[in-house]
Amino acid sequence: MAPSETPLSREKLHGNYDHIVGESTVHLEVLKSIDTFAKSSKIVLISGETGTGKELVARALHAESPYAMSPMVVVNCAGIAENLIENELFGHEKGAFTGADQRHIGLFETAFGGTLFLDEIGELPVRLQSKLLRVLQENEIRRVGGTAQIPVSVRVLAATNIDLIKAVEANRFRRDLYERLKSLHIHLPALRERREDISALAKYFLAKENNCSSQKVVDINPEVFSLFDAYSWPGNIREIEGVIGRAVLLAEDGEILPHHLPQDLQMPQVHPLPLADETAAANPNAAERFVLPFPIGTTLKEIEKSAILTTLAREDGNRSKTAKSLGIDRRTLHNKLRDYNA
Ligand SMILES: Nc1ncnc2c1ncn2[C@@H]1O[C@H](COP(=O)(O)OP(=O)(O)OP(=O)(O)O)[C@@H](O)[C@H]1O
Ligand SMILES: [Mg+2]
Repeated sequence: MAPSETPLSREKLHGNYDHIVGESTVHLEVLKSIDTFAKSSKIVLISGETGTGKELVARALHAESPYAMSPMVVVNCAGIAENLIENELFGHEKGAFTGADQRHIGLFETAFGGTLFLDEIGELPVRLQSKLLRVLQENEIRRVGGTAQIPVSVRVLAATNIDLIKAVEANRFRRDLYERLKSLHIHLPALRERREDISALAKYFLAKENNCSSQKVVDINPEVFSLFDAYSWPGNIREIEGVIGRAVLLAEDGEILPHHLPQDLQMPQVHPLPLADETAAANPNAAERFVLPFPIGTTLKEIEKSAILTTLAREDGNRSKTAKSLGIDRRTLHNKLRDYNA
């Protein structure tokens, strides 16, 4: 650090970010950006792997902004069928298309005075990307089938877990929109890049679990922290939240122990699945041919989760590539990742 630079600290921030845990430098940089960008009415891009806290950051940006008195409306751009997105965002006039028997007010208008959070913006179809860019430039929308230009009065936030530069290079994302988005950009580090925050996060989620259940688990065994340190956390903070939630249920004697953790955490060096075939083929001894790369007793669900999270980590958090590589569609992957939060 240059001598003139003062160290980052929470005390210097205007907003309240007590619920956004972490003291690592990379994390404090994030909090500082939230604090600065919250005042602006410009669009902010929040990027980061799955489970790194993009929505939490969007909510903090909203809460600390002049738009906080009105609600934040969340739109998942990957969750709406392509032909419906335009309608959802901008609304339509009566008679705009067959079946449009009433005027429909879109989310840009519904979110009036508040924040519109465009989640998974990387999945927005290219045609809609042009429309969005125009809206951001002109601060006006036009309902589908309408002629009136309606002034927009919302703060727009956007999040992505795909690498937008790669999407631009692959012609899947418009360069001009990307340029516009990146001027206020918050990138959330993966949990493995801020390992010093792992124990504080684990303790925070333990306290949270204790608050909302009658069960009281007071401690986390030091061996558990060692396993946490050795693990790659492909599902990031959502994964640690899920791991603690599950362990609290299983821990009966007031302490989280290694056997309360999922298999992939207990054995971070677990072999990739194809090894089973290779070991079996290389081993002529019949008794040892029935080799599994997981301990006997591992459930199919745990194997599936391990395969999904490992693939996600290998694909740098890119859900589209992960889904493709696993031979499932993106929605199925999305739902499974959401279930792991339970
Ligand atoms: N620094 C943090 N402190 C406390 N809780 C956190 C922190 N970051 C994230 N969380 C919690 O982790 C969970 C996942 O966060 P969030 O939903 O914001 O991630 P995301 O990046 O939007 O994930 P996805 O890409 O899958 O949509 C949430 O329950 C959130 O409250
Ligand atoms: Mg999210």
